[in-house]
Amino acid sequence: MNNNENVLLRMEGIVKEFPGVKALDGVNLTVKAGTVHALMGENGAGKSTLMKCLFGVYTKDAGHIYLDGREVNFKNSKEALENGVAMVHQELNQALKRNVMDNMWLGRFPRTGPFTSEKKMYDATMKVFDELGVHVNPKTIMSTMPVSQRQMVEIAKAVSYNSKVIVFDEPTSSLTENEVEHLFQIINMLRDRGCGIIYISHKMAEIKRISDEITIMRDGQWIATEKADDLEMSDIIRLMVGRELTNQFPPKTNTPGETFLKVENLSGMYNHVRDVSFEARRGEVLGLAGLDSSGRTEVLESIFGIRTRKSGTITLAGKPCRNRSSGESIKNGFALLTEERRATGIFGVRNIRENTIISSLKRHKKFGPLLSEKSQREDTQYYIDAMRTKTPNQETQIRSLSGGNQQKVIIGRWLLTEPDVLLLDEPTRGIDVGAKYEIYQLIQNLALQGKTVIMVSSEMPELLGTCDRILVMSGGRLAGEVDAKNTTQEEIMTLAAKFA
Ligand SMILES: Nc1ncnc2c1ncn2[C@@H]1O[C@H](COP(=O)(O)OP(=O)(O)OP(=O)(O)O)[C@@H](O)[C@H]1O
Ligand SMILES: [Mg+2]
Repeated sequence: MNNNENVLLRMEGIVKEFPGVKALDGVNLTVKAGTVHALMGENGAGKSTLMKCLFGVYTKDAGHIYLDGREVNFKNSKEALENGVAMVHQELNQALKRNVMDNMWLGRFPRTGPFTSEKKMYDATMKVFDELGVHVNPKTIMSTMPVSQRQMVEIAKAVSYNSKVIVFDEPTSSLTENEVEHLFQIINMLRDRGCGIIYISHKMAEIKRISDEITIMRDGQWIATEKADDLEMSDIIRLMVGRELTNQFPPKTNTPGETFLKVENLSGMYNHVRDVSFEARRGEVLGLAGLDSSGRTEVLESIFGIRTRKSGTITLAGKPCRNRSSGESIKNGFALLTEERRATGIFGVRNIRENTIISSLKRHKKFGPLLSEKSQREDTQYYIDAMRTKTPNQETQIRSLSGGNQQKVIIGRWLLTEPDVLLLDEPTRGIDVGAKYEIYQLIQNLALQGKTVIMVSSEMPELLGTCDRILVMSGGRLAGEVDAKNTTQEEIMTLAAKFA
């Protein structure tokens, strides 16, 4: 039974200002024991900042925080953890060269003299993993594991502190479907134990499934707190965006033309992709559907030359393209927005302009080797406006943007390379509902210009709403092809299960 009256955490009138941004403007949040409380809002609304004020990463400028009725003011994350507040951050911050158990216990494992016992640490890690059903070898070096497993380690670590309040800031953005289910089991177990869970996500379906209460923020302000059952999806969107969002997708006005790209007998050297052949037309948006590990990402990465092919030919406008490296692929007119763009694509201390234009420098060569600053500014501003990226100005360091706004900058970077073929891997992951529309519009514009877009997405409505045709992968092979206009989610799911 949820004890609804038992308030665990109360945050009152929290204010936090950064140079040029009032990130939090008097925000309130009350979390009860034994409940999951979702925190929602557009990219840059202040969700992560509010949680970092709780966790002692940032010092709030004003306001009060009460934990179990006692006022607290954590100076750093260590103090927060010692007092029963844990957090899984939006961006992973792990010691990649060290192993799993080092990462689990760094700075807190009981020592005997100057030494920690490897054996004890191993056993302690296994104890946590067994309890949570996590299957990872504690001695594995972090950098050798897929991001999704690293994320599960981070989750296990947060849970291992036996905290009363646990914050999950977009925990599922790199998890597979099975891992999401696993995380939800863990969260349910924590709720039953009486923990207060704060859950941040842009995935509406997750929010409806897991949360008891929802608080919505907009532009650094508290907007509403309601029981999850009392809010329809459309209510949440309206409260988040501040206006009615009637259409989720822009109208498809593109008309695919002649065959442009041919991929024949593509097989992976070190993965299970087998004999994938397809064609894509000019001005076409082609979707790539399938379950996790069906080979969708591998197909994109093999075409772009960052995965070794065992066989396969790629032809663009009748011209064979060898695409043996990303450099060669870019020269041949391809661009790839990777799934793990935050881990691989961001130059943190560089500003937004530098991060935007870095892959399209030749557009700005006006006088010999000199780059035109004016055109750099114009290009950068175009994408800031097009995706409504929330930033004080172009000179802001990209690392001080919110997670979703960082993503938008990287999307702009790849669109600026003006590729003939744009490969997009989960383009709207971590992006709020409002800004998704703007991104669909940009994809649509590219198709109107006669470019070919190939897009991987786990969100079926997104594929149906934006693509002309959808290829379905299953177990590394192509299981079928459907016309987006007259197919159903069921048909796609059936194909996706064909060789799985
Ligand atoms: N360290 C920082 N320095 C300067 N500005 C910052 C810093 N951290 C956050 N901000 C700004 O504060 C605002 C709120 O950002 P925050 O990261 O809390 O958003 P969010 O709601 O978590 O968004 P997202 O859904 O994109 O993760 C943004 O405008 C962001 O640029
Ligand atoms: Mg955030």
